[in-house]
Amino acid sequence: MFQKIIITVKNKFLHLLLGLLAVSSVAAQPGAIKTGNDGKSWDITTRSSGYRLEVSAKGEVNAICFGNSLNLERAGRATVAEIPVRGGYVLGTPMIEVIFPDGVRDIELEYKSSEIVTIDGYPALKITQNDKYYPLEVSSWIRVLPEFDMIEKWVEVVNTGKKGDIRVENLLSGSVSLPKDAYELTHYSGVWGYEFVPQTTKLTQGTKTIQVKDFKSYGSSSFMVRPEGENDKYTGKVWFGSLKYSGNWRIDFDKYFAGNVQIAGGMNFWDQEVNLKPGQSFTSPRMLFGYTERGAEGVTASLVSYARENLPAVHCNRLRPVLYNSWYATTFDVNEEHQLALAKVAKELGVEMFVIDDGWFKGRVNDKAGLGDWTVDKNKFPNGLKPMIEKINAMGLDFGIWIEPEMVNPNSDLYRAHPDWVFHFPNRQRHEGRNQLILNLAREDVFQYLYKSFSTLLKENNIKFIKWDMNRVLANPGWTSAPADEHRSVRIKYVENLYRLVETLRKEFPEVWFENCSSGGGRIDLAMMSRFDFNWTSDNTDPVDRIFIQDSYLTLFPANTMISWVTQEDWHRQNPSLEFKFDVSMAGVLGVGYDITKWNEQEKKIATEKIAQYKAVRETVQKGDVYRIVSPFEGNRSVLQYTDKNRKKAVIFVYQMAEYPANTTEETQRTPLVKLIGLLPEVRYKIEGINEVFSGKYLMEVGIEFPLRGALKSRIFSVTSF
Ligand code: DGJ
Repeated sequence: MFQKIIITVKNKFLHLLLGLLAVSSVAAQPGAIKTGNDGKSWDITTRSSGYRLEVSAKGEVNAICFGNSLNLERAGRATVAEIPVRGGYVLGTPMIEVIFPDGVRDIELEYKSSEIVTIDGYPALKITQNDKYYPLEVSSWIRVLPEFDMIEKWVEVVNTGKKGDIRVENLLSGSVSLPKDAYELTHYSGVWGYEFVPQTTKLTQGTKTIQVKDFKSYGSSSFMVRPEGENDKYTGKVWFGSLKYSGNWRIDFDKYFAGNVQIAGGMNFWDQEVNLKPGQSFTSPRMLFGYTERGAEGVTASLVSYARENLPAVHCNRLRPVLYNSWYATTFDVNEEHQLALAKVAKELGVEMFVIDDGWFKGRVNDKAGLGDWTVDKNKFPNGLKPMIEKINAMGLDFGIWIEPEMVNPNSDLYRAHPDWVFHFPNRQRHEGRNQLILNLAREDVFQYLYKSFSTLLKENNIKFIKWDMNRVLANPGWTSAPADEHRSVRIKYVENLYRLVETLRKEFPEVWFENCSSGGGRIDLAMMSRFDFNWTSDNTDPVDRIFIQDSYLTLFPANTMISWVTQEDWHRQNPSLEFKFDVSMAGVLGVGYDITKWNEQEKKIATEKIAQYKAVRETVQKGDVYRIVSPFEGNRSVLQYTDKNRKKAVIFVYQMAEYPANTTEETQRTPLVKLIGLLPEVRYKIEGINEVFSGKYLMEVGIEFPLRGALKSRIFSVTSF
């Protein structure tokens, strides 16, 4: 947990004394921000990182390299402005680009003031700068999260003038500069069904940009930058970051000829603009930057614990239920009788939450109709939802339901009544994705319609779980009837209202769990994660593919947010066993998606045993620290270790995807021993299924061979201390 660096009176005195003796002294400040004696320089530290900011004699706020905190022992040289702008010499990537009312496009910032504030328990440095001539005020924040080895950066711009609008053509959230070195960038990109594929590339001179322009990503804004060739998992320097935003975003990795790398990220202002009228302000989303010397696993530890701590508070520490979801069993063909039959079997297997997916609402016979009309389909459910939910509740199951608020089918009552509610441009082809259009959620009437529809649904029915889907990319983002100066900020308003809609519903229905879905993992980020309890990771439920997708997911996000269903899907025709599928899905929040009414007794027996096994380990799986000790990206196996916070209990998932003859592949030439990590060296551990006792030191330094042979085989080993 957060350890505040509390400076006692004694320390303060000592510090002041040292300050008087030292040449570049700093005065004591609470938290991890120290202000220099002149009040115009700051040293910011986390557990591993150090960052210095200084105001130059000319009033420029400059940043010294971000990296190892020992660098603060020496006076560094400013590499880039803290808030690089368009103006003057073209140096690096600007964070702010504006056009003033008289057409001037250059900004000249000058330091005005600073203060240290506390935001949600963490110290933050706020620096305010003004343009030397024009009425533009720029405040930038650095919120310090020492135990996560991260800082959060964001910026607010204000038009302080009395007349004339300022057009903001670009406003990024933050920038840091890395010392001169040769670097490699790892980021995560993907496509439907293949989310979060790690991509590693050298950063050569020039700019590498990762970005989203159509609201869908299947990847992540999270990234890692390491000195070239330094690949150890557990040690070594890594700079990392992630943007807390769900609309369009971009991150630039700008390698200067001198060798430094500037990383700047925020909203993507591609085809976007914000118009600031006198007195108006605009604030960027938050961008996280971190630095660790604990390799990629250090990054995971930071990002995952940050995400975990920022999950919606109401369910944050609660164990996630075992789910059933009807999508793969029924697609759109849902009715009361079959849903009840599914629920009955689900209950017998040990499921706790029964979720009806797409297909339940008016006119939804296939994906060509119904979206937007959020009342029950009386042809499929002549008695409405209520009696069915009551029967499901009477079985001892909670009930959940699928919705896709942001969309409308042209074949719907909503579209027929309000064709102007969708994003569109006149005289342009109207692009439909999965036969649907996007509602212009920037409009207040659309927001109110959606709020009313879903609050009525939740009020009238005992619904404990919402699966919130979003199944297409953004195109034709037109709203030409709005005032002209708002045309290009429509996407920003949309995302604001999306957050507002989720937050309003959550506030009104605090007991309800919310799942975030976007045709699988098309919109997973730290901003959604702070508003939703879980994510549907991928529509690809093939267990082998899932091992890869889940390995990446667990690099960036907590296991208790990763929903994984066992389904009949077999994308590569490998006929994996039911046990293997369960073992893969048990690595996160377990769900079942088969048509279980068709299961034979043997299949039900396997499922019942597996669900019971999951319940026995889920506390460790959902709440423990996850280490990806053998990566599927490197060989034919994957080994995941989940460890309790007290390090006395662990669960090991071992997956074998293929078996190769000895000594034929790089992997089979290496030792089969797997070293565990994060245990207590002196404590003795028993591993279920291996009848021996080992010290933690042995397991971590020598390692053991997990007994598992054959292709598509898996085992789960419980490790307990005694
Ligand atoms: C896409 C989701 O990813 C699926 O799980 C399912 O909910 C369908 N949409 C329903 O249309």
